[in-house]
Amino acid sequence: MTAINPVTDLTIEGDVAVITLNSPPVNALSAPVRDGLYEGFKAAIANDAVKAIVLICDGRTFIAGADISEFGKERKGADLPAVQDMMENSPKPVVAAIHGTALGGGFEVALTAHYRVAVPSAKVGLPEVKLGLLPGAGGTQRLPRLVGPEVALNMVTSGDFVGAAAANKSGLVDELVDEGKLRDGAIAFARKLVAEGRPLKKVRDLQDKVEAARGKPAIFADFRKANARRFRGFEAPEANIKCIEAAVNLPFDEGMKAERDLFLGLVNGTQSAAQRYIFFAERQAAKIPDVPDSTPVLPIKKVGVIGAGTMGGGISMNFANVGIPVTIVEMQPAALERGLGVIRKNYENTAKKGRLRQEDVETRMGLLTGSLELEKLADCDLIIEAVYENMAIKKEVFAKLDAIAKPGAILASNTSYLDVNEIAAATKRPEWVIGTHFFSPANVMRLLEVVRGDKTSKEVIATLMQLSKKIGKVAVLVGVCHGFVGNRMLAQRQREANKLVLEGAMPWDVDRVLYDFGMPMGPFAMSDLAGLDIGWSKETSSSSTIREVLCEMDRRGQKNGKGFYDYDENRNAKPSAEVEKVILDFAAKKGINRRTISDEEIIERCIYPMINEGAKILEEGKAIRASDIDIVWINGYGWPVYHGGPMFYGDVIGADKVLAKMREFERTMGDDFKPSALLEKVAAEGKKLHQL
Ligand code: 3HC
Repeated sequence: MTAINPVTDLTIEGDVAVITLNSPPVNALSAPVRDGLYEGFKAAIANDAVKAIVLICDGRTFIAGADISEFGKERKGADLPAVQDMMENSPKPVVAAIHGTALGGGFEVALTAHYRVAVPSAKVGLPEVKLGLLPGAGGTQRLPRLVGPEVALNMVTSGDFVGAAAANKSGLVDELVDEGKLRDGAIAFARKLVAEGRPLKKVRDLQDKVEAARGKPAIFADFRKANARRFRGFEAPEANIKCIEAAVNLPFDEGMKAERDLFLGLVNGTQSAAQRYIFFAERQAAKIPDVPDSTPVLPIKKVGVIGAGTMGGGISMNFANVGIPVTIVEMQPAALERGLGVIRKNYENTAKKGRLRQEDVETRMGLLTGSLELEKLADCDLIIEAVYENMAIKKEVFAKLDAIAKPGAILASNTSYLDVNEIAAATKRPEWVIGTHFFSPANVMRLLEVVRGDKTSKEVIATLMQLSKKIGKVAVLVGVCHGFVGNRMLAQRQREANKLVLEGAMPWDVDRVLYDFGMPMGPFAMSDLAGLDIGWSKETSSSSTIREVLCEMDRRGQKNGKGFYDYDENRNAKPSAEVEKVILDFAAKKGINRRTISDEEIIERCIYPMINEGAKILEEGKAIRASDIDIVWINGYGWPVYHGGPMFYGDVIGADKVLAKMREFERTMGDDFKPSALLEKVAAEGKKLHQL
């Protein structure tokens, strides 16, 4: 064995050279890896004894792509295209041996090998689009030559992985070898190639699949149309489509040039910078500075959930989905039955869409046990309370739980606003109490705000963070404050949206601007969806807000066909003349001189105070880092990932510009816009908000 460099070995096994990469954690194509590949292939090709070359990786995976942390920095080391040229033009067959995930540039390297073998558990994919990119190492030109443009379009615009068996069927992988026997299997395959004198198969030379699609622009037009909603606002999907079009219509080298140009456009743009930042931010969120990886984690084998309403039901599903049994406690038999019925219906709907097998519906339902007695939770390792958002009730529940739960059980409150310390103080074991703010629908939304009380133990935090990952959530650790990170910032936007409507905008103006910004819907459409009458009662209604007036008029939102908007039977929203009149009358009564409000002002008024609030949250230590705030907004509220979250967006605008606007608004409109000390500091020092 020869060490080519610290991350690459070359072994000559008779007539086969094996190049082995070992660059943890994921063998990304960093400069040393590219250098190793270059030198390794050079040496193997130069060695007369070698008849075939196998490229394989040590560790958990084949190459998982370009080294994302290298983008935007000065390039060092061998060029990837030079490595690929050498592989593809090698006079000896090159076999890529795949385990784990061959992704992005990693899969593109595999596509320049003459043959690919994989173990059954391996996956391949081109996930660049998720980073706001396109496969920039020939992937968009080679992939359609192997599988045709339709499959290629789906793969590059979704970034989804393909399992080895399917990859083998579609021709992406030439042969499957036994699990655990990749090295031997790949060497045997290489020897077979030599013995049979099989030709050097270059993907770039394959023509039939692309030729068949030439002169059929409908393939692309239809694909664009069918996916317009999914791609809204994103630049990368369109660039990916253009590359596949180039693969179909242009000779290989010209297609490669088109790919290169489009790649450079994306990699230097803001969207990809935002999406790459979010890739690392998501992984960073799992790291808690004072809760090291070595912190003991408690086994969670049985979960209790109190409340079978929308939240309790959704929360329970998360655990049943990963095989953890849940006892759901309700007060009334009817409510319990209804709650379990809703869960079953949810599962059945998923099964109907073909995303769950019917037997899995039964398995999951079998893991859920309903009960009317809190005492049934005595043996649970984790109990999540999901009752009404009312402090007195929550405290009562926790005092009871304290008497019932076994020692060492984690007691969690699913709250969106309330003081977790006060809830914890209702027990004699506050170190075992934590907040878990799930987002509705709790079985779908990826975000989980984990709320750390003053006394919450590190083991409890570590357990919740790890468990979140297991149930498919992105957890962000936050501190106790009203509304935590997400809702606290949302309140800023909501306040301004309401004010703008009084000052001159209409709800549909505000909604349109925020929708065009990339949010899934604006604040008024969101209120209509949730129901305007949440927390409203006829008895106490005082006509003091537009929302109250609308409730008094029985405009309760989508559920009764009228809220801020009028809805038709298909729930399509239409601006309401009645609401417009309510707003004009209301403003007149308040003596407000309505004015024209620009789209720009709507963005500044709704979003800059959120950025400012984010800075306050950091100042108060309620979030560990700015990127955690961005993760909250992307995963909990549908903030468009290509804008990178509110804090990242603050830097795209410029902290100094955000500050200047806040000051201007403060002068003209008062304290709602008081800049945070941290925003002032960041702007003065020319620092970046998202790096705080
Ligand atoms: N570059 C740099 N670091 C990477 C990386 C990459 N491509 N992929 C993963 N990492 C790092 C992660 O940041 C993480 O670091 P940490 O431990 O310090 O937090 C570590 O590797 C492990 O990653 P995960 O926690 O995500 O581990 P999983 O086992 O859950 O997932 C994975 C492994 C499926 C490989 C996942 O990491 C992944 O999807 N990686 C990104 C793959 C990708 O997008 N590749 C395309 C890159 S762009 C490209 O190739 C351009 C080309 O066309 C020119």
